[in-house]
Amino acid sequence: MRRPSLPAWAWVALAAHALFVADARAAARFDAATRVFRLDGERVTYAFGINEAGQLQSLHWGGRLADGDPLGPAKSLPSHSSFDLSASITPQEFPAQGGGVFTEVALKVAYADGNRDTVLRYVSHTLERDAVTVRLRDIALPLEVSLRYTIDPGTGVIGRSARIENLGRTPLRIDQAASAAYTLAPQDDYRLHHLSGRWAGEWSLQQRPVSEGASVLESRRGSTGQQNTPWFAIDRGGSSGEDSGPVWFGALAWSGSWRISIDKDPLGAVRVVGGYNPYDFAYRLAPGERLDTPVFYAGYSDGGMGGASRLLHRFERERILPGGGKPRLRPVLYNSWEATEFAVDEAGQMALAEKAARIGVERFVVDDGWFGARNSDKAGLGDWSVNRAKFPNGLKPLIDKVHGLGMEFGLWVEPEMVNPDSDLYRAHPDWVLNFPERPRTPARNQLVLNLARRDVRDHVLQVLDALVTDNDIQFLKWDYNRNWSEPGWPQLAPEDQPKVYVEYVRNLYWILGELRRKHPKLEIESCSGGGGRIDLGIMALTDQVWPSDNTDPFDRLSMQDGFSHAYAPAAMMAWVTDSPNWVNRRETSLDYRFLSSMQGALGIGANLNHWRDADFATAARMVAAYKQVRATVQQGDLYRLISPANGSPRSATLSVSPDRRQAVLFAFLHSQSKGMQEPAIRLRGLDPRQRYRIARLGGGALPEAMPAEASGAYWMEHGLAVPMRGDFQASGFVFEAK
Ligand code: DGJ
Repeated sequence: MRRPSLPAWAWVALAAHALFVADARAAARFDAATRVFRLDGERVTYAFGINEAGQLQSLHWGGRLADGDPLGPAKSLPSHSSFDLSASITPQEFPAQGGGVFTEVALKVAYADGNRDTVLRYVSHTLERDAVTVRLRDIALPLEVSLRYTIDPGTGVIGRSARIENLGRTPLRIDQAASAAYTLAPQDDYRLHHLSGRWAGEWSLQQRPVSEGASVLESRRGSTGQQNTPWFAIDRGGSSGEDSGPVWFGALAWSGSWRISIDKDPLGAVRVVGGYNPYDFAYRLAPGERLDTPVFYAGYSDGGMGGASRLLHRFERERILPGGGKPRLRPVLYNSWEATEFAVDEAGQMALAEKAARIGVERFVVDDGWFGARNSDKAGLGDWSVNRAKFPNGLKPLIDKVHGLGMEFGLWVEPEMVNPDSDLYRAHPDWVLNFPERPRTPARNQLVLNLARRDVRDHVLQVLDALVTDNDIQFLKWDYNRNWSEPGWPQLAPEDQPKVYVEYVRNLYWILGELRRKHPKLEIESCSGGGGRIDLGIMALTDQVWPSDNTDPFDRLSMQDGFSHAYAPAAMMAWVTDSPNWVNRRETSLDYRFLSSMQGALGIGANLNHWRDADFATAARMVAAYKQVRATVQQGDLYRLISPANGSPRSATLSVSPDRRQAVLFAFLHSQSKGMQEPAIRLRGLDPRQRYRIARLGGGALPEAMPAEASGAYWMEHGLAVPMRGDFQASGFVFEAK
């Protein structure tokens, strides 16, 4: 019998449909009749279809739809006028520059003959249980784009990336490459949330209406940056809040220059396009070569901003952070930086280690200053051999001492950098990013090694591998203290040099991956002068992150609040340091500092040589208390009960364990005013019928008139009044199910 003549895509589609019929639990499906793709999570549906023009058209991103709901067939929108043509108005999943598209594009290509027109059409697709890959091709040229979609069924978080391939015989140049375009159907009251900041002032939550004109979040710096983080959330100003209403959010897994643009198109739909930053970007593809984009994750919650961040935290814990879905609880660490700065030596570090062990610290970390001629930030970076004046017998005696005290040992490194005053730079001045015959602009007296070069990449891995092999090291704090200037790669042809934006970061990931492969027990922290390199790309390869060099416990409350919108407390380090704090000269009690830091993964960075016995007693009590609740704080559900933003006189967070048997409340009074009584704090997320016993975190009597025990319903509906008076007051409570 003759096969009916169907186009190739239809055969693939039919096969895919059969697969769907055979496996009803699949989260990714294709309906051959309507040519609609669906990705379903527990509470989310993402759908797009192949329209009559062969374009991949966005259809739905939001709450879960019923099976069989009428999503397709996709039909392109008619031109609005001779100015806004159909191709531009129709929300495409991966719009390319060409054919009259004027909205933000995901792809812009220049061909050798001067052609800059690309029009992509559906060719075929491959379906897996939780993923689909759709192949698109230019209408005339051998340019192919494969769009990869994944869904995490539990959280409904979609992952999208693109592979762009030159299947022709001549090179082409990619001028712009995004990972994905996401579309929100027209509404009047969309509101954008994003995080901005600067060194020592990261994680400031911003809001603005999504109105005409683009909002651009980006880094042009070669790395993620403190100024913006690659995360956005959009809610409905009219009907969304912290606890309820629809929220669409996304985060880009990339630690280099990036851009997310949020744009309202002429008909009111909102397009969110994210990926490589086109600024100074160009990527030449020789015949047969391809470019892969990073993954741009996106999710939806109908539980307000709080619901959105709880979903994202869960996704990060289960799908991003190392640990195969169960990231290890963060050990309580001690770090020497604020205590000693560059003046580290064997005797001084041993004395600190003894004191740290007394209060229950589990990991002792020696920060900057242990290597080369590193007595200040002016010299030594790049020379990763132990400074024998400071450690005459190498690191071994200190490491043995730390281990003998029952702690892990950690070390600070900044492997991507070099001081011009270093043996490495004297030997290899050509290893840094530079344009020949141009000045090399230093920042913190250092230059950036060009990790995109194979020899530099291999050198950095070899140095770190040797360091971890030769010393019994459990943890590296990986620092990165400047952004790029003069991003030249003179060893390549001029037209290939901008590849540095991609290759550098790929090699960074490669080094981290190799190091972890060779040393499976090694843990790593991503630090970049504070929070300058935190994103889902680096978090897949590091166990914890350092949000800010600002350790002021009051500033940290709002920073931690901002941070928590995008990233999980499971990875968020927070240190207790000295008072007055070096940033603001603000004085706070040790209890206050502990309770602020206990909102994340607890560390101590104070100069223990200055502590009195009472301080050690307080610290030991708080560290012990923290260990009782850290699983809930780090891996439970976070409820931002009262935001510290906008000058609020108070703030409160609650963390609830996944089984709802433990909850941890942190409450802060920032500033007492006019003798006002503190309003009751109403908890969330408890089991209403379960009875919970309350205790003060860190011990001590409960305030008078506070019941020792009540139902979850009581704590949520009636709440508890925490009697705090004065400035910079803090209280912590733990609720245990009976
Ligand atoms: C910047 C980091 O953020 C600090 O914690 C510290 O490690 C210094 N670098 C050391 O130079």
